[in-house]
Amino acid sequence: MVTAVLGLQWGDEGKGKIVDLLAKKAAYAVRFHGGNNAGHTVVIGKQKLFFHLIPSGICQKKTIAVIANGVILDLAVLIEEINILKKAGVTLKNKLVISPRCHLILPYHKAMDLAYENARGKKKLGTTGRGIGPAYADKVSYNGIRVYELLDWKLFEEQFLFQLQIKNPILKTFGVSPINAKEELKKLIKYREIVIPYVKETYGLLHQALQKKQKIIMEGAHGTMLDTDWSPYPYSTGSNTVTGAINSGAGLPVKSISRVVGIVKAFTSRVGGGPLPTELTNQLGDQIREKGHEFGTTTGRPRRIGWLDLEAVKFAVAINSVNQIALTKLDILTSLAKIKICTGYKLKNKPLSYPACGYSELEKLTPVYKEFDGWKEDISGLRQYRQLPKNCRQYIEFIESYLKTPIKIVSVGAERTANIFR
Ligand code: GDP
Ligand code: IMO
Ligand code: MG
Repeated sequence: MVTAVLGLQWGDEGKGKIVDLLAKKAAYAVRFHGGNNAGHTVVIGKQKLFFHLIPSGICQKKTIAVIANGVILDLAVLIEEINILKKAGVTLKNKLVISPRCHLILPYHKAMDLAYENARGKKKLGTTGRGIGPAYADKVSYNGIRVYELLDWKLFEEQFLFQLQIKNPILKTFGVSPINAKEELKKLIKYREIVIPYVKETYGLLHQALQKKQKIIMEGAHGTMLDTDWSPYPYSTGSNTVTGAINSGAGLPVKSISRVVGIVKAFTSRVGGGPLPTELTNQLGDQIREKGHEFGTTTGRPRRIGWLDLEAVKFAVAINSVNQIALTKLDILTSLAKIKICTGYKLKNKPLSYPACGYSELEKLTPVYKEFDGWKEDISGLRQYRQLPKNCRQYIEFIESYLKTPIKIVSVGAERTANIFR
């Protein structure tokens, strides 16, 4: 009954589109980790909707969106998103539930994120600047403030002021203006009024759905190669992005996850710093970026582009126990004469596996490529697998056989209906 949808690369694989698709008959769509560093897109006809905190599954009429305990919440961003969705005609009444266990991203987290990045200078990580690392750091160092605390304003105020005693001297050290308590509390008390009606423990809700055998979609954010433990740390994000995070981040038992859908973009993209073994720093990379509109949904930054890296994706399939794959943005590769796939890594002529690499190995290694002939025909209007050009099918079938995992959905356009089901 529980389907997990996870990005198997460096993020932006097209999770939003596939979650919307799979949420069709789902009772719940759930975010279980990360924050508004995520940017998920759903395209319905001419309407383009962007989601940073609210699960993309909310676009389906009957699906209730759940922000579970593993998510970190920036109230200002949440409220902005609620307002944008309301304007776009997406109903939120009785459709959004937020766990009181979510930790808050507070103004000092964003200030610290930016201060740390500035201090790193040329070696900055390229975070989204949304305060993700500092907020998760506070969570595990018992300095976090949860949505729970918002329910009792006095308690919240007390904890906020205590944190400022710790944070403001740190900010001053970095030459950043300290946070003005009065100003921020004035904003936060307003946000509190808007958000509290949506707050309810989500554990019971999801377990009840399990008992009723209702469908639940778990919307992963970011990607396996950004996972705190399994990325080339420190070029990571602050949360675990793998299947296991569903258990801690939403309270669903591991054995309740019956289907893991891995999203793989037909090439590679990444935003921010860090190694990217198959990166194309040439004109071809620019061409794919432009054609694929590969600019960050959250920050607008140009995404770095590379060939599909199956050595890394193979690891993501294994660690997440992926049962099936949705291959996205295949239409973007149309008209390339030759297309390459990375099938392994070599360092000093010796084979090397993704999990054996730290970031310095990933920066030095040489990818091993298999080259494919491209196709010229426009595939974006096709809806039957057999209609695809032969070379295109060969590309898909190679990925499938290499990963030993069926590709059940081939996405050939951004629009909701641009899919080929197999
Ligand atoms: P997410 O973070 O994984 O949800 O992905 P993003 O929304 O950040 O980035 C994916 C981008 O590709 C969005 O603009 C989508 O609308 C778009 N997209 C998704 N699937 C396809 C596809 O198959 N073809 C094309 N051309 N665009 C797609
Ligand atoms: P979705 O869900 C792409 C990247 C940032 C940066 C690193 C750390 O849309 O796929 P952070 O702000 O998380 O501390 O930044 O992680 N990153 C993403 N890249 N898509 C995402 O989310 C990302 N979330 C984080 O660019 O390199
Ligand atoms: Mg994105």
